[in-house]
Amino acid sequence: MQNFISVEDVFDLSDLIKRALVYKKNPLLDQTLGRNKRIGLLFLNPSMRTRLSTQLAAQNLGMDAIVFNVGQDGWSLEFEEEAIMSGNTVEHVKDAAPILGNYFDILGIRTFPSLKNKEDDYSELYIKQFIKYAGIPVVSLESATLHPLQSLTDLITISETFKEKRKPKIVLTWAPHVKALPQCVANSFSQWINAWGESDFIITHPEDYELDQKFTRGATIIHDQDEALRDADFVYVKNWSTYTDYGKIYTNDPEWMMTNEKLALTNSAKVMHCLPVRRNVELSDEILDGVNSIVTRQASNRIWAAQAVLSEILKRQ
Ligand code: CP
Repeated sequence: MQNFISVEDVFDLSDLIKRALVYKKNPLLDQTLGRNKRIGLLFLNPSMRTRLSTQLAAQNLGMDAIVFNVGQDGWSLEFEEEAIMSGNTVEHVKDAAPILGNYFDILGIRTFPSLKNKEDDYSELYIKQFIKYAGIPVVSLESATLHPLQSLTDLITISETFKEKRKPKIVLTWAPHVKALPQCVANSFSQWINAWGESDFIITHPEDYELDQKFTRGATIIHDQDEALRDADFVYVKNWSTYTDYGKIYTNDPEWMMTNEKLALTNSAKVMHCLPVRRNVELSDEILDGVNSIVTRQASNRIWAAQAVLSEILKRQ
């Protein structure tokens, strides 16, 4: 693995999941693999789970991890080629990234989308510019369109939870939210579940909330949430803003919130969410505090996903 930006960077997905579960049992198995190596974790946007779990994963592999909150403490970066920098940006990525490439052995980067210009966001300019100019492996800590460390964690969590000798029925359901959110987690979850190919995968959302087919192709899309939820083994709850008419909120219909009444339609489904979650907007208290919620296990598994990915990269260095 050279970079880790999407599922397309993964050579053997089942193997990566297995490796993460090995680290879960024995976190210090490869404690010298990253000795004398450093990872720089650059955050242009806020984070709790990604930041801390990647730091812990690096530590388990013997690496030093240094966090830099670029969005808060750094110079404002320019990403456009041939930009005339007479506006607010202070430093071009082509000047900053090679320096980071000399400071570190691996670079992790979080860059959210603007949700204003679909073409710009979906071109993944920011992370691609870091890959182009840093000259070292780049790990996405959530980009404009994808969140691969989250999706790997989600597959690890489903794999360790579902023990029956049949494919699980997995439902990704849209949920209401007060803000326009990126499509990253939903895109990424769809991409990874489709690549995994070991489930009956359904996506349910209100009309006009279609995601990019590049990621959803292979899933069944149903606009009736109750019908979609029937007999589900896993329900993944997530809000996203509109993709076609980009970055809008068309509805906040509270009927789409996941509740115990809806859970009763499922096969006593395990309920997942990437967190942070708006309680009683996206998911009810009764679900989050109930026995079907696996969100804490899911978030805790972020360490093992990050550790499996970093170990793959370190083994190539
Ligand atoms: N799920 C997730 O990425 O959480 P953070 O934004 O806290 O990192």
